Amino acid sequence: MISGLVLFVAIVTLNAAAVVLAPVKVLNDGNKMPMLALGTHNSTGEAAFTATVSAIELGYRHIDTAVIYENEEQIGRAIADVMKRGLVKRQDLFITTKIWNDKHSREDVVPALREALGRLNLTYADLYLIHFPIGEKANDKLADTDYLETWMGMEDAKNLGLTKSIGVSNFNSEQIDRIIANSHTIPAVNQIEVNPSLTQESLVAYCQKKGIVVMAHSPFGFMVDRESLESPPPAPDDPVLTKIAKKYGKTTFQVVLRYLVDRGTAPVPKSADQRRQKQNIDIYDFKLTEEEIAAINKFNSNTRVIKGVFWFDHPYYPFNKD
Ligand SMILES: NC(=O)c1ccc[n+]([C@@H]2O[C@H](COP(=O)([O-])OP(=O)(O)OC[C@H]3O[C@@H](n4cnc5c(N)ncnc54)[C@H](OP(=O)(O)O)[C@@H]3O)[C@@H](O)[C@H]2O)c1
Repeated sequence: MISGLVLFVAIVTLNAAAVVLAPVKVLNDGNKMPMLALGTHNSTGEAAFTATVSAIELGYRHIDTAVIYENEEQIGRAIADVMKRGLVKRQDLFITTKIWNDKHSREDVVPALREALGRLNLTYADLYLIHFPIGEKANDKLADTDYLETWMGMEDAKNLGLTKSIGVSNFNSEQIDRIIANSHTIPAVNQIEVNPSLTQESLVAYCQKKGIVVMAHSPFGFMVDRESLESPPPAPDDPVLTKIAKKYGKTTFQVVLRYLVDRGTAPVPKSADQRRQKQNIDIYDFKLTEEEIAAINKFNSNTRVIKGVFWFDHPYYPFNKD
């Protein structure tokens, strides 16, 4: 399951503080991606700056942002700060950002990425993703721009050297099949929601068969407050998770991240708290058994944190509407 991983889980000394580095995987285009990213959705203003600096100090090398998160500028300042202090070089970092739905025309993609790079104060991104297969107009009204057109713009951006890798997010297998059949580039990554309430076994297996790395967004599912009417199990004190956590001397949140790692996906946990950031990367000194992975898979209820109900009527709505 973890074949192809360049396993250099390492504890290194950096400015006298021990940091844990996530394993790195070679993507289908030859670029290398750290298999754990700091999530930054809902990290805004100074909190985004502080969270990014603290994560990089702790050993995170992959930061996940998007124009829609409105924090690219603060993340750019954080990157400049850690580089200026000599903690890391640009090539040590892996920066993912995403194009929003209102820039899906082919001719809009390169300018949108150039603007993102301006905010990030970078000359290139490591990974640029189509955030959703859904096109929208600037006024949020649905647009039926074909994501194949967007994908050609993504290829343009890669050919110009503005991003090293390109991929998609929230795409289903039929949509990826269509990209593969109609373009020159197989997406390097599909960033999708994966957690114990939405285990996505068939889509993860599909992506892995095609050599597409799955980044697992919203990794904690409904273990954290989602301001939703639904709160399917597992809760943080669930007995199944607690038993596994006790066995390894970890928290139930760490167990869930390790479950995602052991399934070959790259989790994207968001935390703005340094203590929790530290816990979230401290997951490489244990490994779940097949039985433990199966026990966590049993929580699956196909309940989504991100449903995008306002896009139900879009021809490219990617999820089951049940
Ligand atoms: N591509 C997409 O469409 C898409 C959609 C959703 C998310 N994402 C990406 O995925 C990232 C993660 O998703 P998310 O932000 O929805 O949720 P998440 O990472 O599943 O959960 C974040 C919540 O968990 C808390 N938390 C973090 N670590 C914890 C720990 N060890 N113990 C207890 N609580 C902990 C955080 O609080 P504190 O901050 O206070 O620690 C925060 O409230 C996003 O930030 C974004 O980068 C992408």
